[in-house]
Amino acid sequence: VDVLLTEVAFARDGGRLTAAAPEVGWLRMEADGRLHRDGVEVARDEAAPEVAWGTGDLFDDGPMRPFLGLVARAPSLRWFASPAAGFDHPFFGDLVRKGIRVTTSHASSPSIAEYVLRAVLDAFQGADQWRRAQADRVWRTHDRHREVAGSTWLVIGLGAIGSEVARRARALGATVIGVRRSPAGNEPVDEVRTPDRVAEVLGRAHAVVLSAPATPATRHLVDAAFLVAMKPRSVLVNVARGDLVDEAALLAALDTGTPGLAVLDVTATEPLPPESPLWTHPAVVVTPHSSGRGLGRFDRAVDEFLDNLARYRRGEPLRSELTLADLP
Ligand SMILES: NC(=O)c1ccc[n+]([C@@H]2O[C@H](COP(=O)([O-])OP(=O)(O)OC[C@H]3O[C@@H](n4cnc5c(N)ncnc54)[C@H](OP(=O)(O)O)[C@@H]3O)[C@@H](O)[C@H]2O)c1
Repeated sequence: VDVLLTEVAFARDGGRLTAAAPEVGWLRMEADGRLHRDGVEVARDEAAPEVAWGTGDLFDDGPMRPFLGLVARAPSLRWFASPAAGFDHPFFGDLVRKGIRVTTSHASSPSIAEYVLRAVLDAFQGADQWRRAQADRVWRTHDRHREVAGSTWLVIGLGAIGSEVARRARALGATVIGVRRSPAGNEPVDEVRTPDRVAEVLGRAHAVVLSAPATPATRHLVDAAFLVAMKPRSVLVNVARGDLVDEAALLAALDTGTPGLAVLDVTATEPLPPESPLWTHPAVVVTPHSSGRGLGRFDRAVDEFLDNLARYRRGEPLRSELTLADLP
């Protein structure tokens, strides 16, 4: 088996990879798209990877275009291990429909869950006021901050990210209502609802977390009707995709105080254009699609890939494999 990966990934994790899978050939792509295997240069049209392991460095000035070009065109390719959890880009569906196996990565979930906790704690404690007071050297007591203990959270999308969020929020004493399409009965939440029953519980939630994929069913899930049904002063956190939120409706709703704050790691257009009103709205916190960038993601991505590589080689089902039914 030849596995395509970036030189950056091999430089970081080659020791673990070669120790765990000594018989595998590692086809390494440099930043400029050149390929080599065991130090010998390989022409792009002669490369025959059976597996391609995409890693997060592809998003950071990595050889994204030649890498995905090879994934899309190499007749030898059987499995693409994507570095992303999302699969809304048509590239993924095209591969699956061609018969190439595609797996998603959930290595960033703990990092995203910590971001969500931090976002809600900051909002409940009014942390920006503390920072401002310190900057002004003002000793101003706050005596009314909200607590996660005793609060209710609604987590929409109860997969890798949503489950990590739910465990952490419950550990701090929150009641968590989770939403997924096919409840299995073992979710780490207090109550489960299916997507058609969100309206029944929305008004109870002090924090609403979006962690479902972008699909036709979730497009503008958060619209004017959703927003008006939220609890006054509640916090909306979107770590999923910008497509889930009608941003014009959100801005109008925030002006009324319901919800009280929107924390957006993702926006409909990325990068968010400088002229977007989201940048300056006093009830919006914007971060540049970075919640998943915790340092532990690298090692977890290797664990995840090696586990799936062993399954692949044994002919067992892969974890997080996309099926035709998953595709938008
Ligand atoms: N901000 C970032 O940097 C970042 C990083 C990673 C991922 N993401 C986004 O977050 C999404 C979730 O990631 P994940 O790793 O948690 O994925 P995941 O493990 O596949 O979980 C997705 C969850 O969403 C549920 N779901 C699907 N359709 C739904 C609907 N219409 N309404 C409510 N819930 C629905 C699924 O329910 P069932 O299991 O019952 O089908 C599942 O529980 C990704 O698709 C991606 O777009 C963002």
